[in-house]
Amino acid sequence: MSSLFTTLSLVSLTLTSAQSLTVYTGGTAATTTTDTASAASGTYTGLAAYDPTVLTPPPAPATPVTSYTLNLPANGQAVLDAGMALSIPQKGNFLGFSVELSIANSLMGSSSTNMKVPFLNYMANIQNRAGVGPIIRVGGNSQEGSSLFVDGLQDGAVLDKIKVSEGVTDTPLINYSLELFYLMANVTSLVGADWYFGLSFNESAVDSPTGNVPIAAKWAQDILGDSLLALSVGNEPDLYVDHSKRESGWGVSNYVSEFDSMTQSILADNNLIDTTAFIGPSTCCQVVGFELDDVLNAGWLTDNVNNLAAVSVQHYPTNNCKINGNVINPQDIFADFLNHTSAQAQVSPYLGNAATVQGVQREFVMLETNTASCGGFAGLSDSFGVALWMTDYALQMAWGNFSTALMHVGGQNVYYNPFTPPPSTEASTKQWTTGSIYYSTLVIAEAFGKSNQSKVVDISPTTDQDANNIYHPIYAVYENDAPTRVVLFNYIDDNTGANDLQTTITVGSDVTSVSVRYLRASSVSEQYAITWANQTLGTSFASDGRLYGSQETVTITCENGNCVIPVPAPSIALVFLTSDALTNSSPSEESKTAYETSVIGTGSATVDKQALETSNGQSSNKTGGGTSKGNTASSANPVWNVQPIGISLLAVILGALMSTLL
Ligand SMILES: *[C@@H]1O[C@H](CO)[C@@H](O)[C@H](O)[C@H]1NC(C)=O
Ligand SMILES: *[C@@H]1O[C@H](CO)[C@@H](O)[C@H](O)[C@H]1NC(C)=O
Ligand SMILES: *[C@@H]1O[C@H](CO)[C@@H](O)[C@H](O)[C@H]1NC(C)=O
Ligand SMILES: *[C@@H]1O[C@H](CO)[C@@H](O)[C@H](O)[C@H]1NC(C)=O
Ligand SMILES: *[C@@H]1O[C@H](CO)[C@@H](O)[C@H](O)[C@H]1NC(C)=O
Ligand SMILES: *[C@@H]1O[C@H](CO)[C@@H](O)[C@H](O)[C@H]1NC(C)=O
Ligand SMILES: *[C@@H]1O[C@H](CO)[C@@H](O)[C@H](O)[C@H]1NC(C)=O
Ligand SMILES: *[C@@H]1O[C@H](CO)[C@@H](O)[C@H](O)[C@H]1NC(C)=O
Repeated sequence: MSSLFTTLSLVSLTLTSAQSLTVYTGGTAATTTTDTASAASGTYTGLAAYDPTVLTPPPAPATPVTSYTLNLPANGQAVLDAGMALSIPQKGNFLGFSVELSIANSLMGSSSTNMKVPFLNYMANIQNRAGVGPIIRVGGNSQEGSSLFVDGLQDGAVLDKIKVSEGVTDTPLINYSLELFYLMANVTSLVGADWYFGLSFNESAVDSPTGNVPIAAKWAQDILGDSLLALSVGNEPDLYVDHSKRESGWGVSNYVSEFDSMTQSILADNNLIDTTAFIGPSTCCQVVGFELDDVLNAGWLTDNVNNLAAVSVQHYPTNNCKINGNVINPQDIFADFLNHTSAQAQVSPYLGNAATVQGVQREFVMLETNTASCGGFAGLSDSFGVALWMTDYALQMAWGNFSTALMHVGGQNVYYNPFTPPPSTEASTKQWTTGSIYYSTLVIAEAFGKSNQSKVVDISPTTDQDANNIYHPIYAVYENDAPTRVVLFNYIDDNTGANDLQTTITVGSDVTSVSVRYLRASSVSEQYAITWANQTLGTSFASDGRLYGSQETVTITCENGNCVIPVPAPSIALVFLTSDALTNSSPSEESKTAYETSVIGTGSATVDKQALETSNGQSSNKTGGGTSKGNTASSANPVWNVQPIGISLLAVILGALMSTLL
């Protein structure tokens, strides 16, 4: 009950503040076209996830650099000879999602038989490009106070929040039921997701294999089977003392012994089928004396390696926690996210750890990351510029031998979500809001493709080679010891064309053409008018998780083995050097018609047949049966049809009111 009142009051707050704004959203009516508009910052007091604040882009460099010639090493040995190194083999699902436990139901579905189709579509877009399903972690701060109720919750729910408070990272206590695992298993059966699941790290619930945590661990394995990658034990233990979860003085040695007693109690009596079951320590915050190095040096890795599936860290480059009145103005730090120095700075502290973890044949996982802790920043975390940054940062982590990186998804009170359902208990299929960083997952999926064998190297220009090099990072992807794709960035905000870059890639003289897909927007400040290969997920309150528009792959003709690739300011150009590489990154024909069902589940989240068609845009024909091959243009779904936000908010409020009445 109390959660319904919370929803209602938040929604009316949004409406009141939205009345004074000019915010537009996509509609379902299909004929008019209007431009998107941006709102003045500083006036919006509604839910963060839909905040229309737009920042001012940093100025373009005074002296443009407009051409660059890339000498692409021909193979792994040539990469080494050039003083660089290829990464371990990476998969197309490298960049995935970390879902806060407390919102797992509002994102994924209210039960195992009532899944949210937009969520499934967002996931299917990745599966279709990566050949493997997305990696999703369910956990976060809210995992710590959680308990599994095997007999189910009184209301038959996936989870109940027991205490909801105001602060962005003040998290509720969670009761969850087996239904959560069944829901996750059903998501896997549809979109191939693999999971990390967070257990409560709480000794009082551990005392024996009959304690709640061992029971939860066992059920998670039994229900999720091979799709459970690992159980996470402890979330940001370096902050436990700060967050009053442990007494002052509690430190690494206490952590190591608690980790041991918890995992031993879970493993006792052959409770688990797979004993290589855990992931930790998920330290986050450069707490002196409690960094990953300190945990590794305390013997934790060697003691536990047989039971560890992977080693994790969590990291945010900055925070919006307003600690001791320290308020960061997003405009002041926007430029920090808009050059390659940031991605390098975030990853370089972990390179030694990655090597240590690789040395014991375990994966190194960035279990939770995003732009800024405590919810991100208005206008920054949801900007196109940050989509460029997230792609750069993910490629940098992949180069640095992380195996997976997961972007955190919070509730409607955060700015950084890759996707957010509408603020309503209603199951609206076309009212989700896509955050700019969602596009980064598509670029990464296509940059690595379906082979599972993509090794990446940062081959960015030096200052000598390109005076504006920090804005022009470059990565190359190798498969079977040959380069197959190149990712070219241009972080500069300049729609005059003066800072557009022409990058010449030198390839074999037998290569007559290459293919290019672009991540584009008119400005690094843009929130919604973003396209990947000319397709978009649209504006706020307008997405069903599918890409709309016709997919555009640009063919560049090469002369004498020189291919000149335009890289507009700002954009990312993903260059496919071979036709196999392009095929291996593109949704297959079958994947577009994979789901025959017209209804997912039996509840209210039912959708028309086409809504689960995992379209790459070529088959988004509302009336078609979905089996036709070839490039049907999708004029049925123009993207920038807009209507004022008030209308959809009204619908949301009516929906919320109706659900109180019911
Ligand atoms: C990543 O791992 C590979 C394979 O072990 C190694 O050759 C390379 O040097 C590592 N990269 C970095 C940045 O440490
Ligand atoms: C989801 O899981 C339940 C078990 O809880 C199963 O009976 C049902 O058929 C599944 N639904 C779908 C759509 O896969
Ligand atoms: C949920 O948790 C609360 C307090 O943690 C407990 O009192 C309650 O019985 C639990 N609900 C169910 C359905 O078991
Ligand atoms: C452990 O769980 C109990 C309830 O099961 C809760 O009261 C307590 O606060 C938790 N302790 C920590 C440190 O999270
Ligand atoms: C580039 O990014 C770094 C690190 O985020 C930042 O310190 C620096 O000021 C940025 N450079 C420019 C020219 O904006
Ligand atoms: C990639 O790895 C997944 C397991 O994560 C496997 O199912 C799939 O078959 C692999 N693909 C290829 C092309 O080997
Ligand atoms: C890009 O998409 C728009 C909207 O769907 C479409 O009108 C246009 O023809 C597409 N451009 C290309 C080059 O495919
Ligand atoms: C959509 O599909 C229907 C039925 O297959 C077909 O008649 C129609 O021409 C298609 N529309 C477009 C725009 O391709």
